[in-house]
Amino acid sequence: MEKVEIDAFQPKFIYIESLPSGMSPKVGFIGAGKMGRALMGGFLSKGVVSPDDLIACAPSESTRESIENDFGVRTYRTASEVCRLADIIVIAVKPYQVRQVFVEEKAKVDKGKTVVSLVAGLTLDGMEQYVPACKNFRVMPNHCVMVSDGAMGYCCSANVTQDDKKKIEEMLSAVGMVVEVPESSMDAITGLAGSSPAFMYMIIDAMADAGVLAGLPRKDAIELAAQSMLGAAKMVLETGKHPDVLKDEVCSPGGTTIEGVRTLEDMGLRSAVIAGVDAAVCKSREMSQKK
Ligand SMILES: NC(=O)c1ccc[n+]([C@@H]2O[C@H](COP(=O)([O-])OP(=O)(O)OC[C@H]3O[C@@H](n4cnc5c(N)ncnc54)[C@H](OP(=O)(O)O)[C@@H]3O)[C@@H](O)[C@H]2O)c1
Repeated sequence: MEKVEIDAFQPKFIYIESLPSGMSPKVGFIGAGKMGRALMGGFLSKGVVSPDDLIACAPSESTRESIENDFGVRTYRTASEVCRLADIIVIAVKPYQVRQVFVEEKAKVDKGKTVVSLVAGLTLDGMEQYVPACKNFRVMPNHCVMVSDGAMGYCCSANVTQDDKKKIEEMLSAVGMVVEVPESSMDAITGLAGSSPAFMYMIIDAMADAGVLAGLPRKDAIELAAQSMLGAAKMVLETGKHPDVLKDEVCSPGGTTIEGVRTLEDMGLRSAVIAGVDAAVCKSREMSQKK
């Protein structure tokens, strides 16, 4: 994969696919709402793609205007133009809008193009019906992609090569961490990555309540709790140590932390968290079976 630098846009490109024309691939978004916007912002700020190589569509003029103003990318009213012009097509509409795009509006994607769907519950078989014979990626991101710190799992169709995977992983890693899983694990990804920011917010909020109870101002308490979670997450990811080892490292004999740990164990924190994630995984499985 050839690395190039483009002067007109900072930061620099990190990769460019070799197309026959020698140009970088055009990435096109069908839908420019919360997810589309988050990914576009991440791709641009990390230099994965330049504004000239990014296009998007949305039916409402206000969305198109804000995308053009904020990102300097060309927008279109319908998905047909995006499907025609882009080499990599990102589907970022709501699940019920997918049929509207590909059946009612008859948007067609040429065989062999790469399609990345963010649509919850849209399986690879389902994608095959809408975009047949394409290189299909089914991605489940969480909403932390909005701050480029998402956690995502993906699976892909059998015709996807290792090079295709590398290209899409590089692109998605601009907005967070990416792991490939078999499609049967996508419900687990939904529970563990898709839903878990809500669980983390609940823990931060509860910690902040405890801080307020102990006399801290609410704002400081929320920020200290959030920063502690962020720091702890970084310790796990950057040291590679097991969370239990890190926990042991901060529990001095007879100290304050082990007292808190004992109480949380007594109150069933571990079981409650396992049950919460499991409930989200089970709900995702139940919803997938209904489709
Ligand atoms: N939000 C999350 O945290 C999250 C997490 C994981 C997965 N997802 C998945 O991401 C997808 C997008 O979610 P979202 O939260 O970004 O939704 P959203 O904010 O409602 O955005 C949907 C976008 O699709 C556009 N759209 C609607 N109909 C269209 C059509 N016929 N042709 C082209 N564009 C059309 C809308 O245009 P207008 O702006 O003009 O209305 C809007 O820009 C969903 O499938 C969801 O399952 C979301």
